[in-house]
Amino acid sequence: MKTHTLLMPLDMHLHLRDGVMLENVAPLTAYSFSGAIVMPNLVPPVDTKEQLIAYKERIMAAVPNDYFEPYMTLFYKNYDRAFLESVAEELTAIKLYPAGITTNSEGGVSSFDIEEMRETLQSMSDMGIPLCVHGETDGFVMDREAEFMSIYELLASNFPQLKIIMEHITTKEAVAMLDKYENLYATITVHHLLITLDDVVGGMMQPHLFCKPIAKRPEDLDALLSIALEAHPKVMFGSDSAPHPQHKKEACGCAAGVFTAPIALQLLCEIFDQFGKLDNLQAFVSDNAQSIYGICPEFKEVVLEHRPFKVPQTYAGVVPMYAGETISWAIESVD
Ligand code: DOR
Ligand code: ZN
Repeated sequence: MKTHTLLMPLDMHLHLRDGVMLENVAPLTAYSFSGAIVMPNLVPPVDTKEQLIAYKERIMAAVPNDYFEPYMTLFYKNYDRAFLESVAEELTAIKLYPAGITTNSEGGVSSFDIEEMRETLQSMSDMGIPLCVHGETDGFVMDREAEFMSIYELLASNFPQLKIIMEHITTKEAVAMLDKYENLYATITVHHLLITLDDVVGGMMQPHLFCKPIAKRPEDLDALLSIALEAHPKVMFGSDSAPHPQHKKEACGCAAGVFTAPIALQLLCEIFDQFGKLDNLQAFVSDNAQSIYGICPEFKEVVLEHRPFKVPQTYAGVVPMYAGETISWAIESVD
């Protein structure tokens, strides 16, 4: 049986939520990943040092062992330098949401006024704190990410030493932007390497594939595959696994988010294997992130096997991508 080993997989964009949901989903990621960048869009958002530390403690209490590092993020506000200095030790990055653009982002940035943002962004740049960005405008849903490119250019050119991560990119425009500015990087989800808008609404509507940013066109999928499969050194895996209870997805007014955490590595093996690029998966799923963020994750060795795996219908009331379907790689062991 064909196997493939991954060392210290990292998920560079993950929603763990809080309370019972946190307790249910955190162990699923901690099982197969060495660490994850944890999103701060709780209600209320994680925007104080006390909340950040307390949230990290709740995450650690929810995972069954110590071999998992939650890399913490703060919800972007125009923080002053003294605050950032006081919290720098506790965080790995700061996550910027445009106001109201997605789940629990109401308190995000409503105007990209560089002068108003300068103290925060320059301090982050000086202190080596990366800025993770949900890059969508409030324009037409298919154009939101492409329209946001001018804001990435504004940020990248005004703060050339600031590491800016274009989160969960979905378009050829974002792919092109990577080579234009040295300080722009990107994460890519596994679902955006598999689906286009057709899979979401081209036939019967599929609420479990509905997310922000929405999956785009075939040419966008091709552009994402081209950089992921080559493990472009500025690109990292970030699942954006975003669990919602089943009744919030299968609802009139479906919440955005695809839940992939427990099947992400299996699906990545399937994709990279299908294109004969399994040798590049290690860089995409760990090595690039280690260099970009300068992190040294906990050791973990995950062996995957090329055999059929039937995706469960739910994980504790959360429906995963491809629920009930059979995928072609499975996790064999984790050490
Ligand atoms: O689909 C999404 N779900 N996109 C986001 O940006 C947020 C996420 C969530 O928190 O549910
Ligand atoms: Zn997200």
